[in-house]
Amino acid sequence: MKAALRFSKNAVVGEVDKRVFGSFIEHLGRAVYGGIYEPGHPEADDQGFRKDVIDLVKKLGVPIVRYPGGNFVSGYNWEDGIGPKEDRPRRLELAWNAIETNEVGIDEFQEWAKRAGSEVMMAVNLGTRGPDEARHLVEYCNFPGGTYYSDLRRKNGFEEPFGIKTWCLGNEMDGPWQMGAKTADEYGRIAAETAKVMKWVDPSIELVACGSSSLDMPTFGTWEATVLEHTYNYVDYISLHSYYGNRQDDLGLFLSRSLDFGDFIESVISICDSVKAKKHSKKTVNLSFDEWNVWYHSNEQDKKIEPWTIAPPQLEDVYNFEDALLVGCLLITLLKHADRVKMACMAQLVNVIAPIMTENGGRAWAQTIFYPFMHASMYGRGTALKPSVSCDSYAVKGRAEVPYLESVAVAGEDTITVFAVNRSADEAMELETVLAGFEGYTVEEHLTLDGHGIKDVNTADDPCNVIPKADGESVMDGDVLKSVLRPLSWNVIRLKK
Ligand code: AHR
Repeated sequence: MKAALRFSKNAVVGEVDKRVFGSFIEHLGRAVYGGIYEPGHPEADDQGFRKDVIDLVKKLGVPIVRYPGGNFVSGYNWEDGIGPKEDRPRRLELAWNAIETNEVGIDEFQEWAKRAGSEVMMAVNLGTRGPDEARHLVEYCNFPGGTYYSDLRRKNGFEEPFGIKTWCLGNEMDGPWQMGAKTADEYGRIAAETAKVMKWVDPSIELVACGSSSLDMPTFGTWEATVLEHTYNYVDYISLHSYYGNRQDDLGLFLSRSLDFGDFIESVISICDSVKAKKHSKKTVNLSFDEWNVWYHSNEQDKKIEPWTIAPPQLEDVYNFEDALLVGCLLITLLKHADRVKMACMAQLVNVIAPIMTENGGRAWAQTIFYPFMHASMYGRGTALKPSVSCDSYAVKGRAEVPYLESVAVAGEDTITVFAVNRSADEAMELETVLAGFEGYTVEEHLTLDGHGIKDVNTADDPCNVIPKADGESVMDGDVLKSVLRPLSWNVIRLKK
């Protein structure tokens, strides 16, 4: 099959905010305990953080990590996780039916984030709590000293403020599964009042209001519009969440899901801008896609988990090759909307629907989805270029045209990286890419992830079963890049001036 692609120096999407390569650590399953933190593990550092996990996180290049939830945050008392560990309470954790020991809290997590080369994106509890606890938390984290909470932080050993810049106003407040779920008006009001006092404590922070938990929520659309009516002047971003699964075992349909993801983004942009127009506002609210991934493999297993245990193995999806291809398409879609999606978090980072897996007391390894994320984070920083695509397409239920090619390019100072997925299971794609206005580029390397069975996975015993290679076929012919994209392949074509 032949396909054509065109990028032009004059057709840019926008600057890629590095925070689109964010991720998420929730107090859920073995994300914290047995994931990032395991004192006594041979790889544990002086604070009990697993160095093998930190090394993998650094390899991924994760500039920001959302914490501590997720559903967990809606019942969380942040004060439980500070100060001497022996004084910290054990709590019933109602979001995930577990016991929370509070051995890790913001004191430890901000330190872990530093060691992993990340910033913290902190969420406040707007389920069972409200503005008072949120403003105290900002004071604890960001105020220099001389007040009750800032001095409490200093007493706990942290003279310097944590300087957390990005804050989420609750989590999925539209969902009946959420502790303290609210109507859009109820949430909009409390989010606005919370935002106000948080910014009074630290005017430099940025705030994310909760959008819908997914595009499928019956209140989607009216939820965003109502929440923004209340919060528009106080918030900087609205959140989107989306998880996908190949439940029908239909590969073509599964790989088309990134188009739904793109539609979701475009719908939320329209709603933000319609509220902006109604309010005669000069300010633009951007998007934080702060939970996205594939999530379904572990659903049945999770029903068998014993409740009220500490760090049970919940949501431990084992990702296969087709998941990596969809994740590649989702990453491309985020980059195609780089002008408005300024933050995004692959949910989650370790053990819980995650690119990184560990054994308690044992090994750590990278799942299949690790690799497209790593490539996008390494080579997807710069200016996103608008793709103009001409290729064949196929039909799936609910969508008449799914293009076989998914692609975007990102230009750096003297680099261009073309990211591309060939969705066809049967045919290689002969791709010609015109790079209008870019001269003197040569192919540095063409990385690929392909040639695997769609259900192939990585495991602790076979961690390199699905890994990328640098064996793609790409050459420059004048200003035209000629490539072969093999069937079902993730491709990263790196050009250098
Ligand atoms: O990431 C797992 C869960 O998915 C989060 O806790 C919640 O926000 C979402 O429903």
